[in-house]
Formats: sequence, C-alpha cells, structure tokens
Amino acid sequence: MQALLKQLQHELVRYKAEKNSIETVFIGGGTPSTVPPKLYEPIFKLLKPYLQEASEITSEANPNSATDEWLQGMYNLGVNRISFGVQSFNETKLKTLNRAHNPQMAIKAVNTAHNIGFKNLSIDLIYATLGDTKELLEYDIATAFSLPINHLSAYALTIEEGTAFESKKEMAKEELELTEWLFKKIKAHSFEQYEISNFGTYHSEHNKGYWLYKDYIGVGAGAVGKRDTLRFYPNPIIENYIQNPLDIPTEKLSYEDIKIEKVFLGFRSCIGVSAELLNKEELQRAQLLCDEKKLTYSAGSFYNENYLLADEIALYLTS
Ligand SMILES: C[S@@+](CC[C@H](N)C(=O)[O-])C[C@H]1O[C@@H](n2cnc3c(N)ncnc32)[C@H](O)[C@@H]1O
Repeated sequence: MQALLKQLQHELVRYKAEKNSIETVFIGGGTPSTVPPKLYEPIFKLLKPYLQEASEITSEANPNSATDEWLQGMYNLGVNRISFGVQSFNETKLKTLNRAHNPQMAIKAVNTAHNIGFKNLSIDLIYATLGDTKELLEYDIATAFSLPINHLSAYALTIEEGTAFESKKEMAKEELELTEWLFKKIKAHSFEQYEISNFGTYHSEHNKGYWLYKDYIGVGAGAVGKRDTLRFYPNPIIENYIQNPLDIPTEKLSYEDIKIEKVFLGFRSCIGVSAELLNKEELQRAQLLCDEKKLTYSAGSFYNENYLLADEIALYLTS
C-alpha cells in the first residue's frame, strides 16, 4: 500500500490531475477485502481533493473476507459501491470453483453492506461452468434478486494461464442456448444489459469510462493505466513493484490499435461505434449489417443489438 501510494502521487503529477477532476475510483484485484481499511486511509487522504462531488467509488470484495468491520471501514472512507465476488449460491459449484465462501456468507455480506448504508451493490456470478444446469442458474438468479442489489455481472468461466484450472480445461463449458436463456432471465428482472457481462438498474460509471475510452490511472502491481495514446504497465510481480513502483513500462498505442479497441468495446456495450472511426469499406459493411438488422444506426453511431455477436461483428467490420 505504501508503494501504491508512491505510484499514485507520481501518476497524479504525470496526468496533471486537477482538483475535482476524478469521476470514478475502482478498487479491484486480487481481493481488496483482504486489506484492512486503515491501510487505505493515506490513499483516500491523497485522492480527496481530486475527487468530484458525487464520484462513484467502488470496491470489489470477497464474501469470506468482507467482514462487517471491513465494510463499515470502507464505507467510512467514502466507498459508495461494493462489487461482491459471489460466483454462485450453489455450495457444490462454489467448491468446484475453489471459492473460500459458502452461500450463507455471501447472502450475509450483501445484506450487511445494505444495512451499513451502501446504496449501490453488485454481485458477480460465473456461468459456462461444467455442471451448470437451468435449475442451478435459475436458483442463482432467484437468490441474487432476493438481495438488495442494483447491478449484476455475469462472467463466462475462462481458463486462465498459471491458475489451478489450467490443467482442467474441461471446467469451462459454454452452451450458447443456456447463456442466451441466462441473459433473458436476468433482464426479466428489469436489469438492463448494458454490456456483454454487465446488467443493472444502475450502470457502473467506471466501467463505462473504459468503454468510452476515457483516460484512467492504474496503480498497484498488475494494474494498467492509459493516457491519450500511451498505456502504462506497473510491474505485475508484487515484490518487484514494491522495490520500485515507478518502474512502469509504457506502450505507444497506434491509431489502428485505438480504433480496433474502440470498435470491440463499442459493440460489446451500449456505447456503440462512431461512424467517424470507420473507413469507406467498413462503413459499407456496417450498412450491410444494419440492413440485416444486426446493427442499428443513430446520431452518428452504430449500435450492436446482440452482445454475444459483438466480437464477430467487430472482426467482420475491421478485417
Ligand atoms: C477482477 S475479478 C475479482 C477477483 C476476485 N477477488 C476473485 O477472487 O476472483 C472480478 C470477477 O471476475 C470473475 N472471475 C474471476 N476469475 C474468473 C475466470 N477465470 N473466468 C471468468 N470470470 C472470472 C469473478 O466473478 C470475479 O468476482
């Protein structure tokens, strides 16, 4: 946390951050709920003058480590949104996912956060896992909506390198029909889908900031920052990061890099893709997709109706 603070001081200068200029803060991970609120105090003290009045300040948390004291401590620091890594309310599935919490701990943590005063609460669920059935997912959705949440993220299980699952690729099993059914179920609770994985009556400003390609400061081991056409990569190895938090390799983004990213982000979310970004051929293809009712066009931008087709549409358009 001291190394992170040092980097944050450096970045606020590098980004020429002005008072009241920071719109959102997102504390992610790893698992922020393993760090006692006291250790966040210096960071919030430094950030305070830069934060806009009603800035959205989110922290991720795991139910097993989001104690009442931790939640109260983060609330007192000014955190006004919690995203709980619940994954499922099915005991067996949680064990299969090697999660350290059980369904009761997840339900208690969300209710405790609500009672403390958090208005914006979100839970993460993982789907496309071996063993998923309509019954199991139906129970997860019903339990989720019995809780005081206004946002839900649903992620298809991906097998990440260097994780316990790397040798168990069969654990990730997506059936498109089940995924479409799951999305419909979530939307039936009037949670609008505003991105491939994100639903809510509340839309996360921080997430939208990424998709609108706004600049963001990334601090901490393994974080990523972006300013104009530069992307910054603080050292992902914690020991090295603590040794020298200002050793931050930088990537220069080309016009093409930025364009491709904007197209993918735009079609995966409610943000859409500006026609100005597209060249003549791409505009013709986009028009074709409009004729096929796969895209809509309004106020200078193209919008994707089916986020599950987002990457295909982006590839078709830009290749
Ligand atoms: C940045 S992660 C937060 C890390 C979190 N502390 C954890 O234990 O996974 C945000 C969410 O990503 C999802 N996630 C984590 N690993 C995943 C995987 N391999 N595939 C799909 N989603 C994953 C989980 O829903 C998690 O709550």
